[in-house]
Amino acid sequence: MATIVRTVAYLGLEARAVEVQVQLIPGLPAFNVVGLGDKAVGESRERVRGAIAALGLALPPKRIAVNLSPADLPKEGAHFDLPIALALLGAMGVVDVETLAGYVVVGELGLDARIAPSPGVLLAALHAGQAELGLVCPAAQGAEAAWAGSAEVVAAPDLLALINHFKGHGLLAAPGPGKVEAEAPGPDLRQVRGQETAKRALEIAAAGSHNLLLCGPPGAGKSLMAACLPGILPPLDAAEALEVSMVQSVAGTLANGRLTRTRPFRAPHHSASMAALTGGGVTFHSK
Ligand SMILES: Nc1ncnc2c1ncn2[C@@H]1O[C@H](COP(=O)(O)OP(=O)(O)OP(=O)(O)O)[C@@H](O)[C@H]1O
Ligand SMILES: [Mg+2]
Repeated sequence: MATIVRTVAYLGLEARAVEVQVQLIPGLPAFNVVGLGDKAVGESRERVRGAIAALGLALPPKRIAVNLSPADLPKEGAHFDLPIALALLGAMGVVDVETLAGYVVVGELGLDARIAPSPGVLLAALHAGQAELGLVCPAAQGAEAAWAGSAEVVAAPDLLALINHFKGHGLLAAPGPGKVEAEAPGPDLRQVRGQETAKRALEIAAAGSHNLLLCGPPGAGKSLMAACLPGILPPLDAAEALEVSMVQSVAGTLANGRLTRTRPFRAPHHSASMAALTGGGVTFHSK
């Protein structure tokens, strides 16, 4: 029978449910991971092997088959390490499979069995909350995951602490949500001398959420005025702050789980291509 642990795959700002299935089959010892994983997922085998060895456990001398289901969904990232390791430990009888069924698991493993942060934990936590499941995540990202509010968060520093938590010795404390960062002030519209018409246009655009095109000779202050716009917009409300934080979470820039109320401002170069603006690259996701 296969042991199943739930995790997620990130597709843009969406977390899709993925099942890690592990089966120990009699035969020549081998360890294979299938299910359209990228290079990081393929290399996960070595990290899982190392982490389990660091616990002082030997892998069973059997054929270890790991399947990431749905098999046609592309899977990227090192956060599959922890669910693979837990499913394997479940199949080996080290952790209780029934307990694991109530959690979505994400996290990267080190060879010394430490659980390292991986991008996207906030999305995984929101997904777990919607599915009425708990979340197992790296200790460093407990504060980020706790923002989702609805999911029970188990934030473990290493694999041993996590196993002990599930066995009931040495329970891990539930993390609290991180702090909300004070707004970082950008350039102030007061700094702009003259340009009354342009300033009025900025105010109208800000009040009515309109698009704005600034035209003028080089050095006239277009970039400066555009940078002033976030300063005259109201602070992000709770839903907007969460959305901005989700982008930061998948980008891996949400330091210490601190949510920010500052409106994001991007100043791409005018010669940037469409692909550069919207996020191009070699990876192609079919929906
Ligand atoms: N009305 C103004 N009040 C205060 N500073 C200004 C004003 N106009 C321009 N500046 C200053 O002049 C410099 C050039 O302005 P900015 O970079 O905004 O010009 P630009 O219109 O974006 O130019 P370009 O078309 O070359 O991109 C900046 O340091 C800006 O602070
Ligand atoms: Mg400019």
